[in-house]
Amino acid sequence: MSLKTYWEKIYQGRDAKPMAELAAVCCPQAPHVYNRMFDAFQRRTVLRLLDVVRPLYGKVILDLGCGFGRWTRLLRAQGVSVIGVDHALVPLVRNRVLDLRAPFAQMKLPDLCVRDQSVDGVVSVTVLQHLPHIEQRLTIRELQRCVRPGGFVLLLEHTGGHEGTNGDLLATTFPNPPSRWIEMFVHHGFSLLESRPCLVLPIFRVYWRVRATLRRYLWVRPATMVKRGTPDVPTVQGVYGRLNFLAYALLTPPSYLLERLIEAVPHLKDWMSQRLPVPQRGFLFRREGK
Ligand SMILES: C[S@@+](CC[C@H](N)C(=O)[O-])C[C@H]1O[C@@H](n2cnc3c(N)ncnc32)[C@H](O)[C@@H]1O
Repeated sequence: MSLKTYWEKIYQGRDAKPMAELAAVCCPQAPHVYNRMFDAFQRRTVLRLLDVVRPLYGKVILDLGCGFGRWTRLLRAQGVSVIGVDHALVPLVRNRVLDLRAPFAQMKLPDLCVRDQSVDGVVSVTVLQHLPHIEQRLTIRELQRCVRPGGFVLLLEHTGGHEGTNGDLLATTFPNPPSRWIEMFVHHGFSLLESRPCLVLPIFRVYWRVRATLRRYLWVRPATMVKRGTPDVPTVQGVYGRLNFLAYALLTPPSYLLERLIEAVPHLKDWMSQRLPVPQRGFLFRREGK
């Protein structure tokens, strides 16, 4: 299976309801409440970074890897001329049918059918992390070509862990530590304006540790969650999947509250993010040069 087919499959059969939309772009098998927490903190991170480059009114901004248009809608609401770009056709067709009042184009990264220096900014949330490392570099080079000098690239990406695979063991996530994301952009003529941790997830970190230990004893495969409503699977794997799903649902509300508390204490989130590798981080780069 190619990565493009993987994405078309992820979107296939999902309607435009918030639950289905978030499942497609966050964690497809996790409970909705967990995806909503991710969505909420991603929005907070993106909005704080956008504050640095305001005013946005009238600017031409690409929503790179737009999916169902979460960020297209947010940017449109701020008076931006936003163009949604994705290689998957299913969400693009749906966006057009729903009339999100923005143009959507099918393009496959690393190539962008966009004129040199023709865009003021790019917003890309959890997209480059899904490109193999060589394509990440080629995409950043393409962004250097398309973004006008003084323009910006806002990125929110995975910064921890190793390559993630789907059920068929196709590698679908290619994270980099923050220093490598920054190095790749600086190498292609960008400078870092700001970087912010998205979520610290202390409660889930403890849970993941406990889960890893249990898994070793129970001999179950990693990353399996069996959703409510699936037929009973009378195996250790099935029971584990159900308990895992339940644990995610139960741990999310306290995690959300703790995360908000951490944010309320000045500098605490930054301090924690230096000690705990955060799963996602936002970056804001400025395109240098003439
Ligand atoms: C995790 S989703 C994020 C969608 C959207 N940015 C959001 O946050 O709601 C990743 C998106 O990147 C798109 N994508 C992955 N590889 C791509 C490529 N090579 N070219 C264009 N889009 C790609 C996928 O189709 C998918 O819509």
